[in-house]
Amino acid sequence: MVQVTVFEILFFPVTPELRTKRLLLRPLQLSDAEQTQRLFPQWDIVKYLNSKVPWPYPADRVFKVYREETLPAIERGEEWHWTLRLREAPDRHIGVISLHRDEWDNRGYWLGLPWHRQGLMTEAVVAVNDYWFDVLGFTVLRAPKAVANVASRRISEKTGMRLIATLERDYVSGRLPAEIWEITAEEWRTKRAQFPSAP
Ligand SMILES: CC(C)(COP(=O)(O)OP(=O)(O)OC[C@H]1O[C@@H](n2cnc3c(N)ncnc32)[C@H](O)[C@@H]1OP(=O)(O)O)[C@@H](O)C(=O)NCCC(=O)NCCS
Repeated sequence: MVQVTVFEILFFPVTPELRTKRLLLRPLQLSDAEQTQRLFPQWDIVKYLNSKVPWPYPADRVFKVYREETLPAIERGEEWHWTLRLREAPDRHIGVISLHRDEWDNRGYWLGLPWHRQGLMTEAVVAVNDYWFDVLGFTVLRAPKAVANVASRRISEKTGMRLIATLERDYVSGRLPAEIWEITAEEWRTKRAQFPSAP
């Protein structure tokens, strides 16, 4: 479980570092922009992301987005972002996971290509779900995803989410069939027992 108390949230509203078995989730900083810019602009990462992500991806884009959009949203208490780092190599970030106050879109994530399909994002999802429900106190978490995004949909299934709606959304690769997945706090607390806590 996440080791942050209600007292800390009330008096120190700073996003904490989270841990999983293999990962450190470190609160995102402007200094992460350079590594993100090297890792993120890959077609297989962006193709099922929201169409507001430009493609081709401009060279200075991450720094501008972090400075003008992401960090101000974090300061306003509307979003929480972490870089993912392997515990054995914490100087390098390998992806990002985020939480957002929103009716339909509460969580986003991407991982650098060399680290796909090793169960890493599932670990990160378990940690941030704990944070969303146990620390921030939300009662439901919803996430949209393209039907074609098999990996992301599989993470939803594995972590106990339910499909609640189908629609169409605009992605970097065009307008596509999409789904909204949901899990309540109560459902998460039952499902959570299946996943190990960080050592
Ligand atoms: C989505 C993403 C973060 C997944 O990260 P990951 O660490 O590889 O995910 P995990 O290994 O924890 O779980 C992925 C699951 O999907 C499965 N999977 C992945 N690609 C698959 C494919 N092409 N076909 C079938 N299953 C696939 C994996 O086998 C795994 O399931 P399993 O544990 O039952 O074997 C990564 O693919 C990514 O960065 N994608 C681009 C960004 C993105 O689409 N973000 C989400 C937007 S909604």
